[in-house]
Amino acid sequence: MGVIHVILSRDMETPNNNQRGFWTSRLGFILAASGSAIGLGNVWKFPYITGQNGGGAFVLVYLVCILIVGLPIMLAEFTLGRRTNLNPVGAFRELSPKTPWVVIGFMGVLAGFLILSFYAVVGGWTLAYIVKSFSSAAVHFKSPQEAGEFFGQFIAEPEEVTFYHAVFLVMCVGIVIKGVHGGIEKACDILMPTLAAILLLLMVRSLTLEGAMEGVVFYLKPDFSKITPHVVLVALGQAFFSLSLGMGAMLTYGSYLPPEENLTSATVYVVIFDTLVALLMGMVIFPAVFAMGLEPAEGPSLVFSVLPTVFSSMPFGAVASFIFFVLLAIAALTSGISLLEVVVAYFIDQRGWTRKKAVLVMGGVIFLLGVPSGLSFGVLADFKPGGMTFFDHVDNLASNYLLPAGGMLTAIYVGFVWGPEAAQAEIERHETTFHWARAWAFLIRYVTPVAVLFVFLARIF
Ligand code: PFF
Repeated sequence: MGVIHVILSRDMETPNNNQRGFWTSRLGFILAASGSAIGLGNVWKFPYITGQNGGGAFVLVYLVCILIVGLPIMLAEFTLGRRTNLNPVGAFRELSPKTPWVVIGFMGVLAGFLILSFYAVVGGWTLAYIVKSFSSAAVHFKSPQEAGEFFGQFIAEPEEVTFYHAVFLVMCVGIVIKGVHGGIEKACDILMPTLAAILLLLMVRSLTLEGAMEGVVFYLKPDFSKITPHVVLVALGQAFFSLSLGMGAMLTYGSYLPPEENLTSATVYVVIFDTLVALLMGMVIFPAVFAMGLEPAEGPSLVFSVLPTVFSSMPFGAVASFIFFVLLAIAALTSGISLLEVVVAYFIDQRGWTRKKAVLVMGGVIFLLGVPSGLSFGVLADFKPGGMTFFDHVDNLASNYLLPAGGMLTAIYVGFVWGPEAAQAEIERHETTFHWARAWAFLIRYVTPVAVLFVFLARIF
């Protein structure tokens, strides 16, 4: 009786409950959460920062960060979400009413808003490259410099960039408007296996290129002399961004879960999938880069200029390029929808909006905010208040400040305010025993906040 009462009263406290939605299967939830985690961070960023930071040694440090920081925070977010069935603002408000902890929720919604505004710009580039894979100019590069110039010219083009940026957001809006089950879950059920298949295909192609082994060695053989404090910081920041932590995205996805879901195993699956995709992406890129005699430390343009050069020199290069950019677009899209969902869930739960209104209005506002980011590589390239473009400012504020701060505060909140015991009770709500409760409590209380603080301070100084 008591349980029924709690469930009923919680439902009634949740305004607009019929607009929220829920996952209909365990697999659907795991694929959607993996879809959020697996994104440009894995496919675009992970290979280039691995290339810049020494290959195998960086990969090892990254894996340690995933284990001691990423995993504990993801479980904390899923637990907070399922306990409250609310968006980030509502969740902290329900558990600690009339306290400043709700600020974590507001920071999360703001971060979702800001990250999507520029993420959609890069998502738009990937869509454009799908189309360009078949234009002769884009598949006959003789050098990465040539491909880099082509890329530079394209991202400086105001109309084209804004057009593809809009198309990317329209796709996100089209999926999120259909709701959690009908839109996000269904889309991810199809898109995630497609992504896995494309990734494996590309890996086979890459590993069978002549000279590929040198890339495998660079990638997998750690040279411990390359591990510096800077490498550790980059790895920790990347673990955070890649797992979609620190802004309530996983909290929001957890809020659509039924009580019987096993949270610990779901966390382990999502972390493994996200890490696998990043690792396999390295197995696509580095063998190809070395086989072509190119530089692994090329930087952010690695996938947009080095890979098209590789494709240009391959039989069926246009097809390979098309397939690769479809993979990149799918990864970006399933992350983009999770960013939009955080913002939308806030307006549904806290403001009583319908899903349709929340998606359309916020999709429009996020598009407008993203326009100056899209123009930051062309007409607004010289507009650099404080030495950074508009794009860099938004990215910097959200990724380097809001996410780490949100993650650290979430860990402190769960570790010391809500308490590991309360979290454990929620995790064990349906008779699953949480075997590593003590280790988790230790990590979330002491290791995670200190590690994130370390990154946070290092970014400021
Ligand atoms: N995890 C995504 C990626 O690796 O590209 C980015 C991201 C998505 C960050 C959703 C934060 C988020 F809430």
